[in-house]
Amino acid sequence: MSSPLILVNFKSYREGAGNAAGQIASAAELVMQESGVTIGIAPQFVELHPFCKHYEIPVYAQHIDAVEGAFTGRIPAFTVRAAGCVGSLINHSERRLTIAEIEACVEAAKFNHLESVVCTNNVGVSAAAAAFSPTYVAVEPPELIGSGISVAKADPDIIRNSVAAVKKISSDVKVLCGAGIQSGECVKTAVDLGADGVLLASSVVKAKDPEAVLRDLVSLL
Ligand code: G3P
Repeated sequence: MSSPLILVNFKSYREGAGNAAGQIASAAELVMQESGVTIGIAPQFVELHPFCKHYEIPVYAQHIDAVEGAFTGRIPAFTVRAAGCVGSLINHSERRLTIAEIEACVEAAKFNHLESVVCTNNVGVSAAAAAFSPTYVAVEPPELIGSGISVAKADPDIIRNSVAAVKKISSDVKVLCGAGIQSGECVKTAVDLGADGVLLASSVVKAKDPEAVLRDLVSLL
C-alpha cells in the first residue's frame, strides 16, 4: 500500500490563518520530509496559491464549485487546479451539498485533474459517494467532529464498515476517516481497520505546538 494520507483541514479557524497557517504548513512539510508519510493540507482559500508555490506538500481546497462563468463568489475547480492544488474536499460536514452537486463536483475535479475527497457522515452515504468514483471517501461522524473524542476509539465500526461498503462498490476508491483524530495511535488504528489515512483539523490547527502533534501522528506508521 502507498503511504497513508494525513490531511489537515485548517477550516476557518483563526489559528489557521496568516503567519500561524504558514507555521503549520512549514511543520507539515518538515515532518513529511523526515517521516516519508504524506501530509496534505487544506488551508483557507486565500492561502491556496501562495502555499502551493511555497511548500513542497500536497495542498487541497476545502471546497470546490462545479461552475464556470458568471458566478460571483464561487470556487471553480479549474481555479483550484490553476492555483497548484492537487485536490479538494467535497461535501464536508460543515459545507454540505446535494447529491447532484456532489456528483457534479467529483466530475469537475476529474475534468481538472484534481483528487476528490468526498466527505460522508455514515456507512450508507459512504457507499453512495463511492458510486461516483472519487479518489477518496472520508467518513466523519458529525457528533465527534471537533469533540476531542477520536472516531478510532469511539466508533471503529464506522471505519471498518465504511471501508467494506466502499470497496464493495469499487476497490479503486480510497477511504479516509476523521473526527477527533489526535495521535499516532488513532492513525494506526484507522489504518489497521483498512483506512488509507485520516482527515483531521483541531488537534493540529489549534495545538500550541503543531509540529509535535504531526510528529506523533506519523510515529506509529
Ligand atoms: O475535516 C476534518 C474535521 O471535520 C475533523 O475535525 O477537529 O475533529 O479533527 P476534528
